[in-house]
Amino acid sequence: MTGQSDLKLERNDLLMNANFIAGKWQPAVSGNRHNVMNPANGMIFAEVPDSDAQDAAAAVNAASDAFFSWRKTTNRERSKLLKTWHALILANTEDLARLMSMEQGKPLAEARAEVAYGASYVEWFAEEAVRAYGDILPPLMPGRRQMVVKEPVGVVAAITPWNFPLAMIARKIAPALAAGCTVIAKPAEDTPLTALALVRLAEEAGFPSGTLNIICASRQNAEPTVAIWLHDPRVRKITFTGSTPVGKYLARESADTLKKLSLELGGNAPFIVFEDADLDAAVDGLMRGKFRNSGQTCVSPNRVYVHEAIHDDFAGRLAARVRALTVGPASNPTAEIGPMINERAIDKINRHVKDALSKGAVVLTGGNTVRDHIADGPFYYSPTILTNSSEEMALFCEETFGPVVPLFTFSNEDEVIQKANQTPFGLAAYFYTQNAARICRVSSQLEAGVIGINEGVVASEAAPFGGIKESGYGREGSKYGLDDYMQLKYLCEGELA
Ligand code: SIN
Repeated sequence: MTGQSDLKLERNDLLMNANFIAGKWQPAVSGNRHNVMNPANGMIFAEVPDSDAQDAAAAVNAASDAFFSWRKTTNRERSKLLKTWHALILANTEDLARLMSMEQGKPLAEARAEVAYGASYVEWFAEEAVRAYGDILPPLMPGRRQMVVKEPVGVVAAITPWNFPLAMIARKIAPALAAGCTVIAKPAEDTPLTALALVRLAEEAGFPSGTLNIICASRQNAEPTVAIWLHDPRVRKITFTGSTPVGKYLARESADTLKKLSLELGGNAPFIVFEDADLDAAVDGLMRGKFRNSGQTCVSPNRVYVHEAIHDDFAGRLAARVRALTVGPASNPTAEIGPMINERAIDKINRHVKDALSKGAVVLTGGNTVRDHIADGPFYYSPTILTNSSEEMALFCEETFGPVVPLFTFSNEDEVIQKANQTPFGLAAYFYTQNAARICRVSSQLEAGVIGINEGVVASEAAPFGGIKESGYGREGSKYGLDDYMQLKYLCEGELA
């Protein structure tokens, strides 16, 4: 193992390298392990269990056993535990941020912000837990009482991505526990350490044994491991953030046991700058939305449409900002763009840019890997703007998931709405205009679950996050988020007259 000496933690016990099942930290039954790499330098710095079906089954057993008592706890008790967990997460911000930067590569300032962002969901659902009201229905006949109560769905399997190693798992576990569900989780193979540390803090917060279980698996073992959960009838819900093909696979494979699903899948967000936009605000919004997490974000603007009358002005202002970005490892305190997660990510970006250039795109800035400028990093990509982009290019149809901004032009509102919606995805969309009537028209016609209007960063714990079309279903955060982990039961009481 190399590179571990770079990881300085205040609490070394937050660097966990085991599964957590039924309240015990334990290796995979097979004893197998898989490596965790620092994408800033390509070096392996930790190992975690490489679980298989046996570990997955043990996690279900634990969560299923724990459910019978956990569901009986009061909402107030669950809320208190979540609040304790929230306080512990915030108290350990620096260590969590360091772990996250080390395994995911994001600059430390962004990692710290993600700790606060993820923690905000824990606090939110601690507050929502005590407001999971049901209903009393007006009786239809004398002597009858009709009620609707909300109950936890049961064991929830949470499968989470590498791009936000803390926030994505927090915003699944917190509502599940708040609702009275028990959880089995599998973090992304690239970024298990932040999730394990989060679970370590949940253990410290005092969640009873078996309520929260986590197992790690390599890319190779992920599918057979998760398959156990998909087919076990005791698992009543799958919550997943990741690609659309994997989301479809989970829906198909879990269909036999008709599980409830929350799928937060791929996006292909349009970002439209109308001729009447405040251009500085639009550039600023694009910079924040596009380059957050180095472009590795599902809601990241993927296709930028600029009205032909302002295209050159906008492109010039954007290029000045993009050229000023600092690319580097999290250990560089001025870094704003970190490495991509792995070789596959870099390969996809290279493929998209090469394809675009072969079809007429022009590089305004960037367009090449910057490994020459960074001593030991194989996964960096320079922030890039391409002009003259068109619909024939792969980056029009697919999410690039990197720091590449393709600029498209348009000449009128109807045309750009049609183009913006010309995708099977519908997670996020953004537009900039100062015309109030246009705001109303465009926001109602754009096909997306989340719309930024004169705003480039839109997610928060108080708002429902999720997509339409092939970007999935279910909502995370907000007053709606708890319902995804609950089911309605109707109680009809007679003979009361
Ligand atoms: C995502 O990329 O899946 C989530 C981004 C966010 O929470 O803003």
